[in-house]
Amino acid sequence: MSSLHLPRTPESAAAPPVATEYVAPRLPEDLPDAYCEGDIATIPLVQEPHRASWQTEIPERYLAMDADELADRIRGVKAALGERLLILGHHYQRDDVIRFADFRGDSFKLARQAADHSQADFILFCGVHFMAESADILTRPDQAVMLPNLAAGCSMADMAQPQDVYASWDELTSVVPAERTIPVTYMNSDAKLKAFVGRNGGAVCTSSNATAVLQWAFQRGDRVLFFPDQHLGRNTGKKLGIDPRDAMALWNPAQRMGGLTAEQIERSKILLWQGHCSVHVRFKVDQIDKARAQHPGCKVVVHPECTEAVVDAADADGSTEFIINYVKNGPPGVYAVGTEINLVHRLHEEVKDQGKTVFCLDPIICPCATMYRIHPAYQAWVLEELVAGRIVNQIRVDDDTREWANLALQRMLEIV
Ligand code: 13P
Ligand code: SF4
Repeated sequence: MSSLHLPRTPESAAAPPVATEYVAPRLPEDLPDAYCEGDIATIPLVQEPHRASWQTEIPERYLAMDADELADRIRGVKAALGERLLILGHHYQRDDVIRFADFRGDSFKLARQAADHSQADFILFCGVHFMAESADILTRPDQAVMLPNLAAGCSMADMAQPQDVYASWDELTSVVPAERTIPVTYMNSDAKLKAFVGRNGGAVCTSSNATAVLQWAFQRGDRVLFFPDQHLGRNTGKKLGIDPRDAMALWNPAQRMGGLTAEQIERSKILLWQGHCSVHVRFKVDQIDKARAQHPGCKVVVHPECTEAVVDAADADGSTEFIINYVKNGPPGVYAVGTEINLVHRLHEEVKDQGKTVFCLDPIICPCATMYRIHPAYQAWVLEELVAGRIVNQIRVDDDTREWANLALQRMLEIV
């Protein structure tokens, strides 16, 4: 290892040879709701049909490499860098990527892993942009966090643009007092919005602690502005006994005052930003009915980004980590799952020898289009650049955003 001239800090590295800015895709043209990438088996990057809209600055030699060659290269870098490199993998990552992760998890668990690994000089975050941004905020400035493919965003996060949230907040707090209104942002959001909630007495939540964060918020105020996922906000509020019909209202950022009257705002305990996850709104109650008819006694477990009707019809709901534990710790039998397909496939493989069958409620294979953009070719490229002494695809949050977003993220980590 001493023979390798590796940068110890981002500052000591040569200037990144590629852009480091994630540019949010325009919606809905770039990512319509029914956007599907097709089969989930790894094919060489050059054959990926949607590659043109992925990050294009990758040396040509990686394009035709197959999964085996890429795996050998990734293994080589891991062996060379040892503890200086930490690879984190979200549960939605494809098998050929996540198998190299030192830790797998939901967004909460991965944020904690990033915060806890101060020995790692380099953190490769195999997930999406908001996760890597959060890891950057939670780590020291001299630790470099990298995202393999800069086009791996989150269409839900893009539904809450910072300028729209700031404008909505001003309109909202012209009707109700700002001191009694608590902004809560889902982890799936831009770092600027995490800073915004930090500055305004709020917190970040993930799907694994959303109930506790809402309880925390209601100890501090009368009303919550929850963004960007209306479904997580509604489903979580219901768990606290808040009636969606009486005490929640949908805030449409495209309309003045969210499209609401002052009276509707005053009556609401939770204002739900009109955002959603394109993957999870595909799950429908009739899929659950069909699963139960075909497999009497099967258990249905879904992610809380699904609609209220789907969550109500399921046996259980929770974060990706919760879903995995629900199946792994449950009795033998059939499990119908409402979340991303890579997780579901892998889970089935892991538990099938225990007399368990796991299948996806949605019969059409539809991975999260942006998680899928983390192809092992990008993983190998970014890692081999490190060995060559260059940091590429670093995710860096500016100091002012970092300070306030860190406050909101620390609250998230403390509220469980
Ligand atoms: P988890 O925090 O449950 O892993 O969810 C992240 C996500 O993006 C789900 O769509
Ligand atoms: Fe975003 Fe949905 Fe993908 Fe999760 S599954 S990263 S919310 S688009």
